[in-house]
Amino acid sequence: MARTADYGLGEFTYPRGWFMVAEAAEVTTRPSTVHYFGQDFVLYRGESGTAHMVDAYCPHMGAHLAKNVTSYIVKDGEQVQGESIRCPFHGWRFGPDGACDHIPYSDFVPKAARLQTYPIVERAGIIWYWHDPEGLEPDIDLPPFAEWDDPSWVRWKVDHLGVIDCHPQEIIDNMADAPHMVPVHGSTDCAYFTNAFEGTILWQKFGAGHRTLVGSEAMLETDTWYTGPAILQSRLTGAYPSLMLICHTPVEDGRVMVWHALMSQAANTPPSAQDIATAEAYAETGRLALAQDFEIWGNKRACFNPLQIPADGPVHKVRIWYRQFYNPRARAGEFQRRVEGSVTTFDTRPEHAAA
Ligand code: FES
Ligand SMILES: [Fe+2]
Repeated sequence: MARTADYGLGEFTYPRGWFMVAEAAEVTTRPSTVHYFGQDFVLYRGESGTAHMVDAYCPHMGAHLAKNVTSYIVKDGEQVQGESIRCPFHGWRFGPDGACDHIPYSDFVPKAARLQTYPIVERAGIIWYWHDPEGLEPDIDLPPFAEWDDPSWVRWKVDHLGVIDCHPQEIIDNMADAPHMVPVHGSTDCAYFTNAFEGTILWQKFGAGHRTLVGSEAMLETDTWYTGPAILQSRLTGAYPSLMLICHTPVEDGRVMVWHALMSQAANTPPSAQDIATAEAYAETGRLALAQDFEIWGNKRACFNPLQIPADGPVHKVRIWYRQFYNPRARAGEFQRRVEGSVTTFDTRPEHAAA
């Protein structure tokens, strides 16, 4: 497995940013576990409906809070009470701030009885976690995903592509990878390909035909951007406006989980059954397009030094941009300034040819 240190990305093993950790529907009053950033977390929903994420292991004697089906605390449905979670081993209970708020057999509750809690936000059907090696408040806004609450849009269903032994660096590289579009995705008549680096945002603007997404005729124009290191959105032109989401979260150093989702506007408000079927079919073509990349990523060897030729996109710049998230926040500007601006890999449109 190729690790962060092998790519020379920076001080931190895992980058600072917003990360998908679960679908909202996966989080219930029955605590469940997820494994990201090299550790187990427990997700549960309090009785108010609010989702919480905490460390998986009890500070008392180390029991796993979610990997249990046989304790009577679990069998009797006493694990989540209010917003608190109770350990299946000796029944210590912890509030949403992590403080122990009840020990069934003791009035004395030690101050050290504290469970680590983690900041999450539920939005657009997804649980988002702010990961920060420096333990600071977010300095990047979680995208609004406003279409989720627009009744003329068909909401996305999240596709789980799966876990691959691939460092997320190799996925980020794809943003500048103009020449894979024809062989992998069947792009035709490529018109333009531009990247822009704007602080914590990385853009790709691309116009071409696309065999997977639109058949062979129409021009597909996509505006694609990363908000931080792990949330990609793409606005696609087509019969109906649509918004694609690709998320990837490190499982371990050098191993990553990938999800896809796509929502699109419907002809009718509220969307008819036919509109929903059309949207789902379009989302499936989006999933298939990502699956083409995913197959490459899941089987390639690590690339520490791309053998770049002039006609390749600015992969080296993308790698510099990505380093800002692996280093202390105070140094982010260094990396941003080195890449700020835009790079056009090609533009064959007649109105741009003179430039
Ligand atoms: S290990 Fe959790 S209450 Fe004892
Ligand atoms: Fe791709």
